[in-house]
Amino acid sequence: MSAVLQIDPIVRPMTLADLPVIAALDAQCYAFPWTLGNFADSLHSGYRCCVYEYNQTIIGYAVMMLIIDEAHLLNITIAPDSQGQGWGRKLMDHVIMRAQQDHVHWLWLEVRPSNGVAKKLYESMKFEFVAVRKNYYPAVDGREDAVIMRLALNHDA
Ligand SMILES: CC(C)(COP(=O)(O)OP(=O)(O)OC[C@H]1O[C@@H](n2cnc3c(N)ncnc32)[C@H](O)[C@@H]1OP(=O)(O)O)[C@@H](O)C(=O)NCCC(=O)NCCS
Repeated sequence: MSAVLQIDPIVRPMTLADLPVIAALDAQCYAFPWTLGNFADSLHSGYRCCVYEYNQTIIGYAVMMLIIDEAHLLNITIAPDSQGQGWGRKLMDHVIMRAQQDHVHWLWLEVRPSNGVAKKLYESMKFEFVAVRKNYYPAVDGREDAVIMRLALNHDA
């Protein structure tokens, strides 16, 4: 019998068992990665934490914090080998759909000005520029600003 190959990745809830792989991916993707403990704290705090999985391999993940009718996207990452193939956009679509289902009015995020790929993705998804938070992130040569962006959701009801 031939194996059935999955066509698209699936999104599923993140579990504690996923965290060693996720923390290792985060360390590959960021100069200042989250620790396994940061992800565990997010799970314990009840944040919306999901995994993007293709043929049982984790290719991405996202962490979103909900506060009443606002949400903050704290982490969205696609594994290096899977970047640039449209999966980041699809995972963002899922995050936005979940926020809509949770009756969120504003979805907030922060991005480094130097992260052109992520900024371009968010702008193309209609996130609007709100402000710059000076010296927000640690950087290899000091500190880097954060660009604060937000997306309006559920505003036409
Ligand atoms: C940012 C990230 C989530 C985007 O996911 P991705 O799967 O690589 O991106 P996609 O293939 O879905 O592309 C989405 C958009 O990003 C932009 N993009 C993707 N790869 C790009 C590249 N190499 N150069 C320029 N723009 C690029 C394009 O605007 C693209 O839209 P298009 O396909 O309509 O042209 C992913 O690259 C990543 O995890 N990077 C490291 C971690 C990170 O920076 N996370 C975000 C922190 S704020």
